[in-house]
Amino acid sequence: SQRRDRRSTSGIAATVGPPCLPWREPRQEEEGRQRPRAFPIDQVRGNFIRSVTNCIFSEAFPTPLKGPLRLAAVSKDALEGLLDLDVAVIVSDEFRQYVSGGKLFPGSEPLAHRYGGHQFGYWAGQLGDGRAHLLGHYTNRKGETWELQLKGSGKTPYSRSGDGRAVVRSSVREFLCSEAMYFLGIPTSRAASLVVSDEPVWRDQFYNGNVKTERGAVVLRLAKSWFRIGSLEILSQNGELDLLRKLLNFVIAEHFPSIHSNKSDKYLAFYTSVVNDTACLMAEWMSVGFAHGVCNTDNFSLLSVTIDYGPFGFMEAYDPDFVPNTSDDEGRYSIGAQAHAGLFNMEKLLDALRPLLSAAQQEVAEMVLKTFLDIYQTSSRMLLKDGTCLRFIQLMEDTRADFTMTFRQLSEASAHQLRRRNFTQAWALQDLASHGRFSDWLNVYLLRLGRQATHSRKDPHSDRQARMKSVNPRYVLRNWMAESAIRKAERNDFSEVALLHDILRQPFLTQASAEQAGYADKPPWWAHQLKVSCSS
Ligand SMILES: *[C@@H]1O[C@H](CO)[C@@H](O)[C@H](O)[C@H]1NC(C)=O
Ligand SMILES: *[C@@H]1O[C@H](CO)[C@@H](O)[C@H](O)[C@H]1NC(C)=O
Ligand SMILES: *[C@@H]1O[C@H](CO)[C@@H](O)[C@H](O)[C@H]1NC(C)=O
Ligand SMILES: *[C@@H]1O[C@H](CO)[C@@H](O)[C@H](O)[C@H]1NC(C)=O
Ligand SMILES: *[C@@H]1O[C@H](CO)[C@@H](O)[C@H](O)[C@H]1NC(C)=O
Repeated sequence: SQRRDRRSTSGIAATVGPPCLPWREPRQEEEGRQRPRAFPIDQVRGNFIRSVTNCIFSEAFPTPLKGPLRLAAVSKDALEGLLDLDVAVIVSDEFRQYVSGGKLFPGSEPLAHRYGGHQFGYWAGQLGDGRAHLLGHYTNRKGETWELQLKGSGKTPYSRSGDGRAVVRSSVREFLCSEAMYFLGIPTSRAASLVVSDEPVWRDQFYNGNVKTERGAVVLRLAKSWFRIGSLEILSQNGELDLLRKLLNFVIAEHFPSIHSNKSDKYLAFYTSVVNDTACLMAEWMSVGFAHGVCNTDNFSLLSVTIDYGPFGFMEAYDPDFVPNTSDDEGRYSIGAQAHAGLFNMEKLLDALRPLLSAAQQEVAEMVLKTFLDIYQTSSRMLLKDGTCLRFIQLMEDTRADFTMTFRQLSEASAHQLRRRNFTQAWALQDLASHGRFSDWLNVYLLRLGRQATHSRKDPHSDRQARMKSVNPRYVLRNWMAESAIRKAERNDFSEVALLHDILRQPFLTQASAEQAGYADKPPWWAHQLKVSCSS
């Protein structure tokens, strides 16, 4: 049995917490730096599906994957930068066990989190970590605390009808995309490792009755906190207001240092902060053409970082109706509707907070909610890459020019090339230039650049190019790129996962290996027929 002696025998038990990772000595100052054992955990024990009340977590042990286990990928940046590990640890079999649920960190009391959520517009009741286990937290030498979570590590009391596993396909996507988003500068959860097993998992990949055997995989992922809007909603909906207050107080004290924990309007301040940060996050998504795909309240972080990478996609041909989840026929979470989904989620967050707000505070909060789209738009405009404007977006939309490469090639083009309309080496700008009004737009653009030039002593164009290249990526994780790496990974060839992972660490830098792989080229013909499979 995996069951360990329980350290805390009362019903009141831990949030989370291995005091250290097994590969390193605890530092002196870490002793006694345990987090508050603040939250009650589920009184009921045992790994069976149930409705849970009056707690934030249930005790839940990972189910080890059946071997042989293969370490398909690791993020050196996450291991070294966040967990203070020497990447040399990865060669040990022990490491594979620890990061896939086969072994628990010393002191780890793994938990599954109870939460609810609004899914596709409707209250879905209890959801919770159905295939994820919180292993504990780690405070690194920079003083940052990261929560370690396994995904795909087996059933929990919240598994509903699921089997608690994640397949290779979805795990590769999460691993690659969360790390790629980080290097694009977008707030996100991180991924430390990806372990692939031979354990069979059955999935109906396109929900069409075609059940296929795939293999189970586990990602070790990290976030400063895994609490979601749904974490608060379930407590509010169930009238568990003491617990709601307790959880909020904890989140505010741990993660919102600028909010004074004694102030009577701290919940209002918290709400205002989440509304702002979420609007800014979603503007950042838009600025790189990222569609999350499942903007349910349970998939939205209270810290406004990107979490739960599922049927996400990066938009290629510019199209506000772009929907990464091919089963989302209504386009509820299309990229153009994404901000409205965010607004909806902020409304649900406010509903969850209402019982703790006075009537006057609720009124203020409603006004704050109304600022969401404005903040989103202002932030989007700021991120709208230098020199472009809504008319430019219109040209892109009309010509269905590639979103990423249009911005990038505009960044790379010299003034000379722009003036001569020489786009021989710029396939996306060529598409754009087919527009009848392109020339007008370009004239205005050049005029503006010229004006800026007279105000600046330095060579304004090389300045512009450098500035624009530092914010307009040349490489994003396009579906076809992920798919190609996944096909190899299914055959235990992880070389392309490693290549993509490496290239996407420097998305703004032109790299020979990426050029050779065609990652900045027009997507191959077969990319257009790709569907993002949704079962995960
Ligand atoms: C905050 O509240 C605590 C107890 O509720 C009290 O001891 C402390 O003095 C208060 N701090 C401030 C700055 O008001
Ligand atoms: C809003 O959020 C952004 C991004 O998180 C941050 O830079 C900015 O300071 C915030 N503004 C306010 C008023 O809190
Ligand atoms: C969003 O949350 C729901 C409920 O927990 C979960 O079933 C789903 O897998 C999540 N989506 C992703 C992409 O992780
Ligand atoms: C994709 O959209 C459909 C239709 O709204 C939904 O039922 C399904 O759960 C979505 N897939 C995921 C992974 O969220
Ligand atoms: C167009 O630009 C390319 C570089 O991108 C250059 O090699 C080529 O000579 C230019 N052609 C003309 C006609 O200026």
